This record gives sequence, structure tokens and C-alpha cells, in this order.
Amino acid sequence: MKRYFGKKVSTAVFISGRGSNLKNLIKFSRNKKSPIKIDLVFSNNRNAYGLSYAKIEKINTLFINDKKFYILEKKLLKILKEKKIKFICLAGFMRILTNNFIKKFKGRIINIHPSLLPKYKGLNTHRRVLDNNEIYTGCTVHFVNYKLDSGKIILQKKIKIFKNDNLKKLSKRVLKEEHKIYPKAIMKIFS
Ligand code: GRF
Repeated sequence: MKRYFGKKVSTAVFISGRGSNLKNLIKFSRNKKSPIKIDLVFSNNRNAYGLSYAKIEKINTLFINDKKFYILEKKLLKILKEKKIKFICLAGFMRILTNNFIKKFKGRIINIHPSLLPKYKGLNTHRRVLDNNEIYTGCTVHFVNYKLDSGKIILQKKIKIFKNDNLKKLSKRVLKEEHKIYPKAIMKIFS
């Protein structure tokens, strides 16, 4: 990806819920060494906690929802253009972007997924991992392409599953690692 020669890249974070990764990325983006600055937090969910947090942090927020997703995307693309957003981080964004949208930001959208991709794409990863008695799971930061959770992997962390693990314990441990690898992956892209 294009180097940023001292200037931070204008970034939007897309969320749908809690926003712990968002919170972590905001903190990271304020570090002098961070290649990104977060200029917009977008959510398709009005009640996403992450939106309130972004407001507290004085970051521009945007909520749009529409039953017709292409209408939502059309409105969103217009605003992203106006705000000169160059890079997008998905962080718990629960909608699948259309090919048209992805094409407009080709190679400039990344996502964090709570599994050791290519294993366990899609939803409820921890539940499925535990049900299958896996020994390892993990988390992955990857580029977004036209196929769900299938873009080029930027960074991954492998995590051991313990015998006494349950959904709560495992999600918590994976999330902790997510918070470490997401900023590292961004540093890697722009290095
Ligand atoms: C994370 O587990 C992330 O990997 C997945 O959705 C969850 C979002 O959590 N895509 P949060 O909203 O960042 O706390």
C-alpha cells in the first residue's frame, strides 16, 4: 500500500456493536507513530456502543440504515468521498459490503476476524471451534475482497484452547489478542 510520507491516512472505522476494537484503534491512531488517523466512525446500528464512545472521543460519527443496502452504501460512499476517507477498518461490522462498494476501495478495506482463517469463516466462530474440539483457534486481520473472510491475510495470531475453556473465556482471550494484532497489522501495511 502507498506509503504515507509523514501524513496520516484518513481512515473510517465501521462498527455494528460494542466497539472494543474501535476503542483500541482510536488509542493506537493517536500514537505519533500510527500511520492512520480516524476521521469517521460509521455504524449501521443506531445503538452501537462504539458510536457513543467515538462521540466522547470527539470523532465524527455517522449512522445510516436502510432496508435496501445499496441505498445505504450509496449514501455512505458519498460521505466517504466528501470526507476524503482513504482507508477503512471493519471492526465488528455485521453487514457484508457489496462488490460495488469494495471495488471503490479496492485493497483499502481491512477486517478483523476471530478465527484462524481460512478456518471458521462467518459467524459464531468460537462456538463452532469449541463444538469441534479444536486445539487451536486464533484471530486474523485480512484485506476485504469479494468473498466473505477470504481476502489476503495480513497478520494472524494462533491461540491455544484449554480443556476448561468455554465461550466466555475463549472470546475474552481471543479479543485480547485481537487488540494486539489489529494495530500491528496496520503498521505492517504502511511500513
Ligand atoms: C470481534 O471479535 C471481531 O473480531 C469481530 O467482531 C467482534 C467485534 O468486537 N469481527 P468489538 O465490537 O470490536 O468489541
